Amino acid sequence: TVVILDRIHVPLLQMELPPRPKLFDFHGVSMTNYFTGNWDNVQNFQARPDDILIATYPKAGTTWVSYILDLLYFGQTDPEHQRPIFEKVPFLELLIPLYPPGVEVLDNLTTSPRLIKTHLPVQLLPKSFWEQNCRIVYVARNAKDNAVSYFHFDRMNQAQPEPGDWNNFLQRFMDGKMVFGSWFNHVTGWWEKKQTHSKILYLFYEDMVEDTRRELDRLCSFLGLSPSAEKKEQVRGGVQFDTMKKNNIANCSTLPIMDFKISPFMRKGKVGDWMNHFTVAQSEQFDEDYKKKMKNTTVQFRTVV
Ligand code: A3P
Repeated sequence: TVVILDRIHVPLLQMELPPRPKLFDFHGVSMTNYFTGNWDNVQNFQARPDDILIATYPKAGTTWVSYILDLLYFGQTDPEHQRPIFEKVPFLELLIPLYPPGVEVLDNLTTSPRLIKTHLPVQLLPKSFWEQNCRIVYVARNAKDNAVSYFHFDRMNQAQPEPGDWNNFLQRFMDGKMVFGSWFNHVTGWWEKKQTHSKILYLFYEDMVEDTRRELDRLCSFLGLSPSAEKKEQVRGGVQFDTMKKNNIANCSTLPIMDFKISPFMRKGKVGDWMNHFTVAQSEQFDEDYKKKMKNTTVQFRTVV
């Protein structure tokens, strides 16, 4: 598939990249100004009843689920629909130089339903999503793999703070000093919300790796979709890791803030890559800390499948 760089991308390629942003505390959550700079408009965002929100902690499988939903609803065959996934599923809170703000893109979107991406922790979600009773697909990934994926992402993405070395990064991850805050608060906050809110589907990255077909069925039944067996197989084939990695619409290769020479966006797509990164001592310390932080929640993760 060929993606033509359009007017949005060209200016960024020509300009020097801004220095990496700094983390600061924002309502108790670590953030950078790329996600808080448009806050009034984000908070006042008007959701529509048929909007579908994809909510995740960064690196939990956002793009994977976004592409699945895009294929289920719109497909990529019609030239009008052949656009990179980050344009088709706008990022609500994003405000980055030379890109139109996520809210503005969404306000101007005429396709229905709108597919919307957010990394906001549950307590910061604009209230209109609750008022309009929108469907929300939350994807969670086990902490260790999530941390590893986040580390490589921060290495290659100029719009993220410097990751430092792995040991340092892991400590910051445990302390919740990441963009979008603590993984622990994020996954447990959304899990608690799901207990009282029926329009949240809580998916696990590990389940999707284990059996994509089964999770696709769960998604379709949550969304009230009944695609033909043929269409489902087509979607399943299109969203396999190796297929998505080669597909410029899905692999984020047209985003100039990312340096794929350092690490590709579609990096490994595996459960258990943490074992190649954590030392035994790091893993033990992490497990101990994890037990404390997760002792009051019922959400359970697998670190191997
Ligand atoms: P890795 O860095 O472990 O490879 P997000 O979209 O939330 O930023 O998440 C990115 C992570 O999801 C990356 O993890 C990426 O490889 C993985 N991913 C994306 N598409 C996938 C797919 N089709 N199958 C498995 N993993 C996928």
